[in-house]
Amino acid sequence: MSLCREIRPGVWWTGAIDWDRRLFDALIPLPNGTSYNSYLVKGSEKTALIDGVDPAMLGVLLDNLRELGVDKLDFIVSQHAEQDHSGAIKKLAELFPEAKIIGSAKCMELLVEFSLVDKNRVQEVKDGEKIYLGAKTLEFIHAPWVHWPDTIFTYLTEDRILFTCDFLGSHLATSDLYAIDTITVYEAAKRYYAEIMMPFRPNVKRHLERIKDLTIEVVAPSHGPLYDRPQFILDAYRDWSSDEVKNQVVLPYVSMHGSTRKMADYLVQALIKRGVGVKRFDLTVTDTGELAEALVDAATVVIGSPTILAGAHPLALYAAILANALRPKTRFASIFGSYGWGGKAPEQIKAAIPNLKVELIEPVMAKGYPKEADFRALDGLADQILAKHKEQGIA
Ligand code: FEO
Repeated sequence: MSLCREIRPGVWWTGAIDWDRRLFDALIPLPNGTSYNSYLVKGSEKTALIDGVDPAMLGVLLDNLRELGVDKLDFIVSQHAEQDHSGAIKKLAELFPEAKIIGSAKCMELLVEFSLVDKNRVQEVKDGEKIYLGAKTLEFIHAPWVHWPDTIFTYLTEDRILFTCDFLGSHLATSDLYAIDTITVYEAAKRYYAEIMMPFRPNVKRHLERIKDLTIEVVAPSHGPLYDRPQFILDAYRDWSSDEVKNQVVLPYVSMHGSTRKMADYLVQALIKRGVGVKRFDLTVTDTGELAEALVDAATVVIGSPTILAGAHPLALYAAILANALRPKTRFASIFGSYGWGGKAPEQIKAAIPNLKVELIEPVMAKGYPKEADFRALDGLADQILAKHKEQGIA
């Protein structure tokens, strides 16, 4: 059964909702599924498809095109070569032999390399280039590195629709075409920003600046619902990508026999008593997407680890490596945990976060179960965090 939805006369959503997908990139949990948004734009002379769908959903896209009576495509716009949007383009190119596959030069190169698209079918579009479909004009805006080097946005001039591919999107399977349930969409979009966009924060800011003077009636990303009130998502992205941090500590920890957990609980209470917000994550059960989302605007991260085989617990190192890869705007970091007879847990965790531009606050490591002196040291850590947040004007 097909499910096309008209956005404006001559413009349809022709994508697929993936209610069941639970993992992306063999890494990112998708608790709410996702969608692969594809769009059909029919001018009076020519027809363009903007983005494909994940190859597993090609049948859904083809049903949608069939329902709209599409037997010929003049252009297939590939805004980004990752397989969830472009993995089916080789097949689409075979089914629509007249179609030119267009996108940035880098995208065309990646399509040939990753999806084995015939190199004679691809054609580069330059930044600012336009194509005319007859009463509908597509203008291409190069927006590299959010998150691959190939991304473009497409602006449908007459209808003032900005197609943004991954940018401004969310992994959210929903029957709503537009972001109506704004609380749910905000959370999904923030989590998505954390997982996909946060490592590229300077580019996010640059691209927001680039599109700020466009008149946009609809933002149409390639995952999740569209925005018919674009300010909602544009303001959220400005906030998340800004340099501002919040009076919050992200506290991921792991404990084997309870010593590190006791310290985690004590530190959480000490921070709350001082008016500092805390997001505590037991790494044995943590959804890494929630941890990533918490890192978007917290001023401080404190990682807790026991000592095992002379070093940090692998789950604590995983959290450190994840934070390092996501490059949040965190300003301060510290470490706590326990050890029995030595070990290098703090050194290993410190070495795992070179990308974080943080001031490191002295770690607190307890020998065995934490004792009075260790709790006083945790009080001292909480005092220092509060003092740092006050210096930042956020506490
Ligand atoms: Fe949704 Fe980068 O692909």
